[in-house]
Amino acid sequence: MTAIARFRPRRSCLYVPGANARAMEKAKTLPADAVILDLEDAVAPDAKTDARDAVLAAVGDRAYGAREVLIRVNGLDTGWGRDDLAMAASAGVDGVVVPKVTRGKDVRAVDRYLKKAGASPDLGLWVMIETPLAVLNIKKIAKASAKTRLTGFVMGTNDLAREYQAVPTPDRLAFLFSLSAAVVAARAYGLAAIDGVYNDIKNEAGLAAECEQGRVLGFDGKTLIHPSQIEVANRIFSPGEAELGDARAVVEAFALPENQGRGVISLNGQMVELLHLAQAERLIAIDDAIRKLAS
Ligand code: COA
Ligand code: MG
Repeated sequence: MTAIARFRPRRSCLYVPGANARAMEKAKTLPADAVILDLEDAVAPDAKTDARDAVLAAVGDRAYGAREVLIRVNGLDTGWGRDDLAMAASAGVDGVVVPKVTRGKDVRAVDRYLKKAGASPDLGLWVMIETPLAVLNIKKIAKASAKTRLTGFVMGTNDLAREYQAVPTPDRLAFLFSLSAAVVAARAYGLAAIDGVYNDIKNEAGLAAECEQGRVLGFDGKTLIHPSQIEVANRIFSPGEAELGDARAVVEAFALPENQGRGVISLNGQMVELLHLAQAERLIAIDDAIRKLAS
């Protein structure tokens, strides 16, 4: 895997209803890092088949440019899931998002089905973590990535909230366990981790606070439902100027002739180790990838 592929920005991952032609068109012009063309929750049962055709048509001309394009299919246990997967397998997109996964076995079943449908090995797979059972089985789900195309987790916080019967609060107290479990498992197995949506579209301060929280917890970015949310997520999930300045200073310090071959140095009174160098290089690579995407 190249460094750029590994550091693909996922600050803003916008859901776009597959039944909404205007929104799918608009998404081609929006500064989201990724678009998730949705056939599941955003599409009513009667519109599922037409939406599948519309999504295939929308991605046909490759007009989403450098944005990562994913298709969220219906679950394999529904009447639409298999046809959705077959379409996604041949659509030429970057990845598929699969809802309601609860076990490692579910990941392997989707992977087998995609293979059978002729999907390229490069087609990625993200799964929704949106049930209590998925949270309890999180390690097994993540571990399925070793033998499948699984590359990411997406939190389905609305579904989780419904199943938990917990009280939703602005600080997401009831969800912290699930959010952290998913991030830890994702990191343990080298997967992307994308936070859930923020429903209150007009509340920019609330969205910003939740993005900050997601970033603190370790997420790569946030799934979004409206174009007005993109800028906030992009800003908050980008490395800050101060952070980048510190990272560059660490890289420069380790590059000095007197520091060659050293595992630990002192920089402005702080102990800096090789692990900090690796962190600094990663941050700079993320910043480079973000700049490339914007250019
Ligand atoms: N992706 C792309 N474009 C979108 C969009 C989205 N998710 N949501 C809204 N837009 C577009 C609208 O088409 C409209 O475009 P126009 O100016 O060209 O007409 C513009 O942004 C303004 O939209 P607005 O009128 O503010 O919103 P709305 O009332 O049309 O739609 C929602 C509100 C919530 C229904 C809509 O944002 C939506 O469907 N979001 C995604 C929901 C989803 O996918 N849920 C499943 C995952 S949780
Ligand atoms: Mg859901």
